[in-house]
Amino acid sequence: MSVTPASAVPGAPAARPIDVATVRRDFPILAREVNGKPLCYLDNAASSQRPRSVIHSISRYYETSHANVHRGVHRLSQEATDLFEGARETLRRFVNARSVREIIFVRGTTEAINLVAQSYARPNLQPGDEIVISWLEHHANIVPWQMVCEQSGARLRVIPITRSGEVDFDSFLALLNDRTRLLALAHVSNALGTVVPVERFILEAKRRGIPVLLDGAQAAPHMAVDVQALDCDFYCFSGHKMCGPTGIGVLYGRESLLEAMPPWQGGGDMILAVSFERTVYNELPYKFEAGTPHIAGAIGLAVAVEYLEALGLDRIAAAEQALLDYATERLQQIPGLTIVGTAPEKAAVVSFTVERVHPHDLGTILDSEGVAIRTGHHCAMPVMDFFGVPATARASFAFYNTRAEVDRLVDALQVAREMLA
Ligand SMILES: Cc1ncc(COP(=O)(O)O)c(C=O)c1O
Repeated sequence: MSVTPASAVPGAPAARPIDVATVRRDFPILAREVNGKPLCYLDNAASSQRPRSVIHSISRYYETSHANVHRGVHRLSQEATDLFEGARETLRRFVNARSVREIIFVRGTTEAINLVAQSYARPNLQPGDEIVISWLEHHANIVPWQMVCEQSGARLRVIPITRSGEVDFDSFLALLNDRTRLLALAHVSNALGTVVPVERFILEAKRRGIPVLLDGAQAAPHMAVDVQALDCDFYCFSGHKMCGPTGIGVLYGRESLLEAMPPWQGGGDMILAVSFERTVYNELPYKFEAGTPHIAGAIGLAVAVEYLEALGLDRIAAAEQALLDYATERLQQIPGLTIVGTAPEKAAVVSFTVERVHPHDLGTILDSEGVAIRTGHHCAMPVMDFFGVPATARASFAFYNTRAEVDRLVDALQVAREMLA
């Protein structure tokens, strides 16, 4: 199956910018209209769009090769298993894990974090132990830890953030102590766009023997991730934010930790032998994949990853950075608009408020102009509390967005201001 984007020329120098006009033709949905206007899709941090190669890989799988995996000796089951396990190898390579045993297919980042909370943290936590997270986490990296703290008597410690939306490193150091059992940190903030310099945090955690989980939901789509270079113990991401299907994601786990962890869910596929007296669990990674997996999802995600790799993660990052810089410059010129989250290192996310205009009203007016942004708390209520706002408007860019779309965002915001402010 062909996964090469029309714009990717093999062997092209990394610095060559992405040809956006050509790339956009890979994404059928970008050609549609909304409210009589061409769609201007700027809600990529919530979920990105899919290129044709991903969509076709899923329909081709269902049309030609679908059967259940791992169980059948018949031809279709073997084909489906080969595609599914081939996808695992693609994901292993994508994050540079040492082994496919370290790649667990899950529903997404949320499920990955819950798995680690229940299977790694819960059996290891004693009353009085501590888990450290930061103030800018998505609820998916807060609530599972609160639940496991309730179950175990452990305590959740929160690293404060600064007014620019950075995780305060000195406060982090001050929080670490001999009861710290885990650091769970966003790699990139979904609400503010802050790129957390996770390497510094990991180094200090490792010095003290503290395992680290990174929530990579907003990082994996936009930058090259190398779990060995990062030296993290767990890394989680979601397919639907990186041009792949919904309902599929990856938990990377260091093999020695996964090996020692009990299964999270029980059922088919995660066992080697079952009797009423005793069950022998399957080996990694299957021990953590109970039941029939999302086979088509894994196949589609692998094709999405190959699409991103063919474009080049460095070129994707450069394209998105250019859009962020341009959007930041233009938005700052709108009277009454305040950008929330001004860290020097940001992914292509701009959160903002407009004086005297509720973000939801902004979102509705922008929608009537064909411009899709997100408004609300972005599943990061503590971040909203910190900045003293109930909600923000958030534009988030992908490599297939254009400067002209930034201009449309700005024009639509002017319309909204004239109507509402
Ligand atoms: C930083 C971050 N973490 C976790 C999640 C949860 O991802 P999912 O809903 O795909 O499980 C999101 C989704 O917005 C996110 O942005």
